[in-house]
Order: sequence, then structure tokens, then C-alpha cells
Amino acid sequence: MTATVATAATALTPRQIVEELDKYIIGQPEAKRAVAVALRNRWRRQQVPEELRDEILPKNLTLIGPTGVGKTEIARRIAKLVGAPFLKIEASKFTEVGYVGRDVDSIIRDLADVGVAMVKREQRESVKARARTHAEDRLLEVLVPSQNAAASGRGPAGFGAGGPAEPSTREKFRNMLREGKLDERQVEIEVAERGGGIAFEMLPVAGMEQMEGNLREMLGNLMPKRKKRRKMTIAEALQQLEQEEAEKLIDMDEVGRLAIRHVEQNGIVFLDEIDKIAGRNTTGGPDVSREGVQRDLLPIVEGSTVNTKYGPVKTDHILFIAAGAFHVAKPSDMIPELQGRFPIRVELKPLVREDFVRILTEPENALIKQYAELLKTEGLTITFTPAAIEELAAIAADMNARGENIGARRLHTILEKTLEEVAFEAPALDGQTIEVTPAYIRQQLDPILKNEDLSKYIL
Ligand SMILES: Nc1ncnc2c1ncn2[C@@H]1O[C@H](COP(=O)(O)OP(=O)(O)OP(=O)(O)O)[C@@H](O)[C@H]1O
Ligand SMILES: [Mg+2]
Repeated sequence: MTATVATAATALTPRQIVEELDKYIIGQPEAKRAVAVALRNRWRRQQVPEELRDEILPKNLTLIGPTGVGKTEIARRIAKLVGAPFLKIEASKFTEVGYVGRDVDSIIRDLADVGVAMVKREQRESVKARARTHAEDRLLEVLVPSQNAAASGRGPAGFGAGGPAEPSTREKFRNMLREGKLDERQVEIEVAERGGGIAFEMLPVAGMEQMEGNLREMLGNLMPKRKKRRKMTIAEALQQLEQEEAEKLIDMDEVGRLAIRHVEQNGIVFLDEIDKIAGRNTTGGPDVSREGVQRDLLPIVEGSTVNTKYGPVKTDHILFIAAGAFHVAKPSDMIPELQGRFPIRVELKPLVREDFVRILTEPENALIKQYAELLKTEGLTITFTPAAIEELAAIAADMNARGENIGARRLHTILEKTLEEVAFEAPALDGQTIEVTPAYIRQQLDPILKNEDLSKYIL
């Protein structure tokens, strides 16, 4: 068992979780608290006696709020925070069994893929040192062929050409490799070809996605791995060989097993746009599949077993976070069984001007900081006066009130437009400092803001 997999059900207290979220997301305290408690409950569950453990089910939640107020951001940060396998998927992507489209089981199969990628990354890290040594060995075999290879004449002439190499010569070369003294030299090595074999595609057939995937992988494994001689620098060769050797050292069965456990115990599925599938069937028509999709989702959310290519995954303890604006449909429009499976509902508030001021400046990844860093790469220093920040926030709030309320996303468009000219001219402004003031913002944006139609398109 590897460290992160074991500790994914974090021991962070709800308060600590909220504090972490506060670094990136402004406001929305109820949503943060609810998510923090749901996470803590998973940790609590793992502390209770075994007999009871399986009885305690996750408290799935629904985040209700308009677009661009932080729903996805909260879920994404949470997953990152606890190192959980995380999948975000739009509920509206699915259709009922028997119709053309994705089947809901693919959610779990995709989540399993995420889990496997996580565990694999971890394992690759843990075999890194060994893989490196093997890679060096393979490279040294080319640079300083050993007796057998040299005698048979198939070893390519390395730097030590002229006769079979002494072991000590090899070690000398190994040291040179490690010190990076040979990095720039060219070498020709045999590497496995990426995506070797024949491209194998099948027509998508509803409900057959998994079979198709498995089949493709099976055939892929049956195909002999093609090798190819390629010329590259020694630095590149080492990297390439290290990757190949790491793959050999990783036990994929073990990875699959660990990943499934990780997914079952810690997985988080973020079901976006859940409101799009809410609503009961009326009189058929194009809406016919909404309730069907809800019924299909039910077993996964309630707990069932889904077959994946790594083995069966039990979904009982996977945490589901649903989200939607619920402008038209209401949570109560969902089928009762599904409502019961999402017992916690929290509302996220529309963002206002004061929020925008904070969003622009406070988060660790605040937009203002991002732009400043980007432009710094051109040698340009850009600063914003406090009044300028206020101005941007006010324009964003105003635009949201006048047109569609797209929440914090409005800041992106406004800031982008404000800095358009600077971004274009930046390379020529090397070494300068630009201070963005309200006047500057007005100068950039007024032509657009004054034209109602234009501003609807651009901002
Ligand atoms: N409260 C907030 N604090 C900081 N940044 C925010 C906040 N709300 C939204 N953002 C930023 O706005 C962008 C969109 O947010 P997010 O993806 O969370 O929207 P959403 O609520 O999921 O909307 P949708 O319903 O359209 O999916 C992100 O870049 C995010 O960082
Ligand atoms: Mg979203």
C-alpha cells in the first residue's frame, strides 16, 4: 500500500478543509462547510468498527447555484486537497439504456481510469531510482559494449570502440552519465515505438463502450511491440529508456488492485448539470430520456458493482456531488429515489461587486497575479491601483446585472479585454512598468461599454 492511497481519506478537520478552500474560493461558506463535512465523514467512517463501516453510506450533496460562482471549483479543489480520484462529468451527456449515447456505467469506468493513472504515477515515482539504473545499463551497453556484444559484432561502436570494454571503463562512463557530461552527445538506440501496432477502431455501439475498450487493449497487447532505432541525444535517450524500464518494473495487476480500492474508498464523482436531467416525463417527445437517465443513475449512486477493465468496482462509498443552476427544474423535480440519495442541498450565492474585488486579488491563483506573472516573462511589470481593482469589479457586476449573470467568469473577459493591447505590445515594452488605473480601464473598455450590442458580444 502506498502512502497517498492510504491517506487519501484525509485527516484534515472540516475547519482545516474550509481554510484550504478559502485560499482559492471567495465566499460560499455553506457550500464549503457541507463539502468539508462530507469529506470528514469518509474519514470518520474508516475509523468505526468494521461491521458498521459498510453500513455507513456517503452523504451525497447537491450544490445549487447560478453559473460561475464556484461549484466546480470547490469540487475540484477538494479532490486535489485529499488526493482522491476525481471525475467531473455532465449529467446531460447520458441517455437511457437502449438509446444511442453514453451509458452511465462509463462514469465508474472513467473514474477507475483516473484511479489507475494516479496509482501508476505513484508507482513510477517509487521505481524511479531502479528504472534509472536499468536505463543507464542499457545505454552503457550501447556506449561501451560488453564482451559478448562486442565479440559478436552486433554491438554498435560506442565511444569505447576498439575492443571489449573493461568494467572500470563502464563505471567511468556511468559517472560521466550521471554528471551529465555526455548529455549533448548523439546516440542511436532501440526504443519501443509509441502506439505501435495497427490503429484499431470500431463503430461506437450503445452500451458496448467497455467491450470495445477491452478488445482494443487485448489486441494491442497481442501485437508484438515494435522497436525502432532512433538517433537522439544522450539526455533524451536516458529519459526514454527510463520510462520504458519503469513500465517494466510496475506490476499492472497490483496497480489495478490498488486503484480499485482507492476509487471505491475515496472516489469523488462530480455530476454537473444535474438539473438538465431533472423533470418527470410529460408526454414523450425529446424529453423522454430524462427520467430514464435518473433511473439509470440510481443504482450507481445507491451502490452497485460496475465491471471495469481492472476488475469490478463497488460504488457504495463513492461520494457523489451533484451541481446545477436549477433555474427551470427544481431539485424536487427529480425522481424521489434520487432525491433521497442526495440528502444534502446547499445553495451558492450569486457573486456581487465586493466578491469580485476579493476574487481579483485574494486567491493564491488570483487573476491579477496570473496576468502579472505572464507579463513578467516579457520583462514587463504590471500593477493595478486599488481603484482600478474596484473599477474592474464594478464593471463586472454591472455587466452581470445588465446581461446574463455569468458570475466570476465575467472577470476573465473583462480583464482580457482591458489588457489586450498590453498583451500584444508586451515584447516591445520590455523593462517598463505599467500601472493600470481606472482611467486606463475606461480608455480600453469605453468603446465597448458604450455600445450595448457590442458589449454583449465581447464582454
Ligand atoms: N467564489 C469564487 N471565488 C473565486 N473564484 C471563483 C469563484 N466562483 C467562481 N470562480 C472562478 O470562476 C470560474 C468559474 O467557476 P466554476 O467553474 O466553479 O463555475 P460553476 O459554479 O461550476 O459554474 P457552471 O454552473 O457554469 O458550471 C473559475 O475560474 C473560478 O476560479
Ligand atoms: Mg461548473
